[in-house]
Amino acid sequence: MPRLTRLRGRRWMLIGISGAVIAAVIALLLLYKVDGNGPDEASHLTNTAEGEMTVKTGENAADTSNGHADPEEEPLSNPITAEPKEDPVAASVQTDIPSLAESYADYFPIGAAIEPYQMTGLHADMLKKHMNWLVAENAMKPASLQPREGEFQWEQADRMVQFARENKMELRFHTLVWHNQTPDWFFLDAEGKPMENETDPVKREANKKLLLERLDTHVRTIVERYKDDIRSWDVVNEVIEPADPDGMRASLWYKLTGTEYIETAFRAAREAGGSDIKLYINDYGTDDPVKRDRLAELVTELLDKGVPVDGVGHQTHISIHWPTVDSIIESMRKFHELGLDNLVTELDMSLYAWNDRSDFGEDIPEEILQKQADRYGELFEAFRSNQELLSGVVLWGIADDHTWLSSFPVTRTEAPLLFDELLQAKPAFWAVVDPLQQP
Ligand code: GLA
Repeated sequence: MPRLTRLRGRRWMLIGISGAVIAAVIALLLLYKVDGNGPDEASHLTNTAEGEMTVKTGENAADTSNGHADPEEEPLSNPITAEPKEDPVAASVQTDIPSLAESYADYFPIGAAIEPYQMTGLHADMLKKHMNWLVAENAMKPASLQPREGEFQWEQADRMVQFARENKMELRFHTLVWHNQTPDWFFLDAEGKPMENETDPVKREANKKLLLERLDTHVRTIVERYKDDIRSWDVVNEVIEPADPDGMRASLWYKLTGTEYIETAFRAAREAGGSDIKLYINDYGTDDPVKRDRLAELVTELLDKGVPVDGVGHQTHISIHWPTVDSIIESMRKFHELGLDNLVTELDMSLYAWNDRSDFGEDIPEEILQKQADRYGELFEAFRSNQELLSGVVLWGIADDHTWLSSFPVTRTEAPLLFDELLQAKPAFWAVVDPLQQP
């Protein structure tokens, strides 16, 4: 080939390659922006401690021991707080049915997790009628309260405190520490580099100190603000993971501090809030004997060291098939025997078996709703007859029109709560309330 033609050929090849590289860079930049994981948006989104967007955890977190799904498998653009929704057109609040919380007045408080938009309209009316306890579904998580270091955002949390006060409801706090929905800045060293990558032992020690100081400040600032309004606090969430080394979740918190982050958080909460506030360690799958026993072991070690743990929060994201009611009560008994209180903190009951990705679509079979009712009935009967073991039950939502399970593990029809999507009482509601209507 003549030299000139060869040179021209090479020049076109070079132009082609550069063009492709530039196009790829632009595409990557666009993607980075669009998925909201760019630096501007990072703090408004559900980013894990590892800085990735993943689904929230719960029944779904990685756990090989008790049938939970893998949290890495589904990307979820889950805003810190849900967007306000219009009330469903045909929805209404039934005035001629008993109040859930009043029916349980002789037993324990009953609550619901809420988003800020639910403090108005029909949802607010539902809360006022049926609940005497509230918890923020997202508004009090670390990423919501301190998205950037030193910049606390109180507005939504304050509104919840105000709403609870005005309506004479108790409010719980969820959660001071978690590996999810926690901003990345916690885990960056003084130079802005990820602490996890540090290999120098001296610098690792300095990073650990910095991280624990940040945690201490986070906890004290929040507890001091709300200690007179909030009595019941989730201090740490989901720290146990039987499949990880030592049975401790291999979060950045654990990798960088061992169990010291747990101790620091509980001690700071007690010092800031005094002995009137009650401090809980919260987790899912606590009915599973392996997980339950690891949690009991951890709590015993903490208590022996004088770390102020008052109780265990059992999330109780269950399904109509699993687990047995006995295993739930058994676990509560175990912690009761250690001198601890128990709370049901995030109760909901999926219609589907674990790992089943099917969808009932518009029409949920009646026998499925009946099965759910029977299970809810059995569960609440067990709570009532063991009321010395627990001091409250919080449902993870008000009604089926708003539940995290509608988009996890796939988007589909879900109906895990006591009221349907038009806010009407389901068979499950009657199963929970009816036995108490008998003379
Ligand atoms: C876990 C968390 C909750 C919530 C649920 C799913 O259980 O503790 O805050 O995110 O997952 O919605």
